[in-house]
Amino acid sequence: MRSILEARDVSFAYGPAAWAICALNLRLETPQRVCLLGANGVGKSTLLLLLNGTLRPQKGELLVLGEPIDYSRKGLHRLRREVGMVLQDPDDQLFGATVEQDVAFGPLNNGLSSSEVRTQVGETLARLGVSHLAQRPIHELSLGEKKRVALAGILVLRPRIILLDEPTAGLDFAGVSAMLDLLNELHQAGTTLLISTHDTDLAYAWAQEAWLLGDGRVAAQGPVAEVMMDRAALRRAHLKVPSIVEFALSLREVFPELRDRPLPATQEALAEFLQRCCQEPSHAA
Ligand SMILES: Nc1ncnc2c1ncn2[C@@H]1O[C@H](COP(=O)(O)OP(=O)(O)OP(=O)(O)O)[C@@H](O)[C@H]1O
Ligand SMILES: [Mg+2]
Repeated sequence: MRSILEARDVSFAYGPAAWAICALNLRLETPQRVCLLGANGVGKSTLLLLLNGTLRPQKGELLVLGEPIDYSRKGLHRLRREVGMVLQDPDDQLFGATVEQDVAFGPLNNGLSSSEVRTQVGETLARLGVSHLAQRPIHELSLGEKKRVALAGILVLRPRIILLDEPTAGLDFAGVSAMLDLLNELHQAGTTLLISTHDTDLAYAWAQEAWLLGDGRVAAQGPVAEVMMDRAALRRAHLKVPSIVEFALSLREVFPELRDRPLPATQEALAEFLQRCCQEPSHAA
């Protein structure tokens, strides 16, 4: 089966001192919501920049949609149509004078006519709920607004894969929910989403697949429920076990009958899990 994203024995160093990414192997086969997890400085941003061809590994190979990345100008231009990346800091990504001009840059660069560009930019800003910002200068925007506009600049190009570096960092509760709703919508439309974060609660609630990084290496990868139950791997990666999992695992210790039940993924499922604990016959008395 052709992979969507793949790293084969990839190593990358910024300088002679140390590998930022070391002999890393990863493979994603179906369109999914993936979380790239790891503590500060383990190489999350570096891996995302390798996957969109911005950085080139000194060793190993990266494949996108089954093809090795072609680092020629033409190859990278083609790659960017398939893989969009939203950078960790929107100030590194946004450079137009106004929101509309910034989002229009990519489609104009792809040779679309100005009326097509106008339509696509209008649609994308509306989809992200930022049409009212269209004429605003970029430098006047709040961080949350900048994050949405940066995503708009990628979405407008309709890539099949979007890499988002810490898309929820710095957002308030409503901002995080709105961002996740939007990402779910994109996923339902068939887009593969890979987001980096060190927030395991968020990963557990949102992702299907988890890639756990520790010091530039893969510490664990697989279905999110499995990776998030691996207390030892999370501890070694300096991350906490998601609160719901921690609570459910403690309940399982008290109610061994629950050991075979799947762990709850949401607060609602946790409430149901608790209800079952109360109903277990051996504890009814
Ligand atoms: N431009 C650079 N030049 C030299 N070293 C760098 C550069 N960017 C990152 N590094 C180093 O590479 C390693 C991985 O950094 P990276 O930014 O990928 O980590 P991260 O997991 O994204 O961290 P964070 O959670 O803080 O964003 C770190 O040791 C960092 O100091
Ligand atoms: Mg980073």
